[in-house]
Amino acid sequence: MKGKTAMKQTEQKTLLKSQQGELDAVLMYNALADAVKDKKDSETFRRLASEEGRHAAVFKALTGETLKPKKTLATFLPILYKLLGKKRLYPIIAKFEYSAVDTYAPVAESYPEVQSVKNDEKRHGDTVLSLLDQHKDTASS
Ligand SMILES: [Fe+2]
Ligand SMILES: [Fe+2]
Repeated sequence: MKGKTAMKQTEQKTLLKSQQGELDAVLMYNALADAVKDKKDSETFRRLASEEGRHAAVFKALTGETLKPKKTLATFLPILYKLLGKKRLYPIIAKFEYSAVDTYAPVAESYPEVQSVKNDEKRHGDTVLSLLDQHKDTASS
């Protein structure tokens, strides 16, 4: 019994951490949408922000907790965009998205509703990277 409770607590911790990450990502993508030069990138980040909002709602339904988004990423990512440029920043963002896929894989085994969240993160990684491809395509065509 005790072991089961401890496991539940660990699960709840993981879910809360995920919920927090999703909330922070909403602010981060909206801040990026405001900061980036390309209109297409801006629209894409705006869309990703709303999808992270849906993810946050999935975790909120599981934890039953209301959390406040933290502004740290939303503050630093636009600065990094200016410092690094999209060619260097977007692969870093994609890496975050792909690492979320690995984080959510075991969670999705216990909570099937997390499966679609996990799939979205893979797509998010691909989408962010594709913003760099398009650049190449436009330049070469
Ligand atoms: Fe997400
Ligand atoms: Fe994402």
